[in-house]
Amino acid sequence: MMNRPFCLSLILAVGLLALGCGSPSSSSTTGSTTASTGTPEKGGEKVKIGFLVKSATENWFQMEWKFAQEAADKDGFELIKLEVKDAERVQAELDNLGIKGAKGVVICTPDQQLGPAIVAKAKELNLKLLTVDDRLVGPDGKPLTDVHHLGISAFDIGVKVGEAIAEEMKKRGWKPEEVGACVVTHDQLDTTKQRVLGSIDALKKAGFPEAKIFKVDWGNTQDIPGAKDAAAIILGQHSEIKKWVAFSTNDDGVLGIVRATEDRQIPAEDVIGVGINGTSGVDDLKKDKPTGFFASILLSPKKHGYDTAHMMFEWVSAGKEPPMETWTSGTLITRDNFKEEMAKEGM
Ligand code: GLA
Repeated sequence: MMNRPFCLSLILAVGLLALGCGSPSSSSTTGSTTASTGTPEKGGEKVKIGFLVKSATENWFQMEWKFAQEAADKDGFELIKLEVKDAERVQAELDNLGIKGAKGVVICTPDQQLGPAIVAKAKELNLKLLTVDDRLVGPDGKPLTDVHHLGISAFDIGVKVGEAIAEEMKKRGWKPEEVGACVVTHDQLDTTKQRVLGSIDALKKAGFPEAKIFKVDWGNTQDIPGAKDAAAIILGQHSEIKKWVAFSTNDDGVLGIVRATEDRQIPAEDVIGVGINGTSGVDDLKKDKPTGFFASILLSPKKHGYDTAHMMFEWVSAGKEPPMETWTSGTLITRDNFKEEMAKEGM
């Protein structure tokens, strides 16, 4: 059944179409970008493909867009980049893509539970659908495996984080019993849950006591200040602990924890934070003086941005269906190797 805002936006969309209004996405915060070169579709119009992400301010998604735009410039399609922060925006922007005559959409949903609504909408608008990063789930919470998806091997990447922390603890001569683990997580998002489970698994295997692992929920707005506030609760509750390791779903979570340790005057050498993404954590790695942000697992925004957009173009323009599932991996970056590793990824 259609919900009310969804239904209203549909009526509005149909109305605008009937009036011949060409540019209904004025409410979009990011607007759209048209590639300047490339082969026009029959009739002079370029193929249009939407790239919708849950946060336009997070560095990771800006990098995905940058690489998706490179695909658009090379292949000659028009890339429509839109931020979708909640269910209503998802529905409205999908409608807008339909009005603009887009043929396909790559989406990182703000909420996995929107799965069935997104699938139904894409079908109704004749949009091919490819999800990136966060997978859609059905009413039973299980992934919608009939929707094409590209994401990270979350548990394995979490393991890499845990192993990197354990190794650095050893190097610094820390005893597991004198250390606390501060974890900012959001278990409702499956990829986050899997990443954190992987890190905990690796730490436990390395002898880290489970009782010293403290988890706190990040809430729905997953930015650095939010992670900092969440981490401050744990640090405040355990002021007896002087050495901390930190992990989360991504760099922003770990940066928030590290900023919280700085607020409490915990020295950088007593903190080992390992992030995931590499895209925002690298700013700390570049600083002259080391911070508690020790390392990150660099993912590939190029594969997540360029490849997904290119796969979608081939699908809509040449009928070449992408693989149902693509799982990407990551590489550990520290102050020593981040420049070379990022260069390999075109960053
Ligand atoms: C999720 C996270 C992002 C990024 C991607 C990678 O969407 O919120 O920060 O890690 O996964 O797939």
